[in-house]
Amino acid sequence: MPTIQFQLNGTAITVDTDPDHTLLDTLRGRLGVTSAHFGCGAGDCGACHVMVGDRAMASCDMPMWSVADKEVVTVEGLGTAERPHPLQRAFIAEQAMQCGYCASGILISAAALLRRNASPTEAEVRTALDRNLCRCGSHNRMVRAVLRAASDMATR
Ligand code: FES
Ligand code: FES
Repeated sequence: MPTIQFQLNGTAITVDTDPDHTLLDTLRGRLGVTSAHFGCGAGDCGACHVMVGDRAMASCDMPMWSVADKEVVTVEGLGTAERPHPLQRAFIAEQAMQCGYCASGILISAAALLRRNASPTEAEVRTALDRNLCRCGSHNRMVRAVLRAASDMATR
């Protein structure tokens, strides 16, 4: 079986894998990295989003060959319980989500936005989160949380 190397949350990873296996299956099934979730399996819901470079991308339909030598970040790489990422602090402060299923994909989309644009407008936040489905109506609180995190990061 071929090996594929990539960076995962700052650590060099080498995995033996079918190059056509998805990144999501590899993360969850092979590497024990479970923050990204399987939702639609078709690139439509955002539950499986991971950051590749500075872009949030669906890992459910991303073949392993396409991440070779790339930098991949999941929520496990954003922060820890002891040292949460400003986005994680802001989502808690704004009570911005009601489930743990969509949450990691939304955090990743927001983190990718802030990596590209440290001071987004509300419209830019809404556009960045547009591909992430939330069925419980928390969108406005999520947008407030992202803007709060951007503000906190600017004043640190
Ligand atoms: S599970 Fe990947 S976008 Fe829905
Ligand atoms: S917070 Fe997960 S569906 Fe709304």
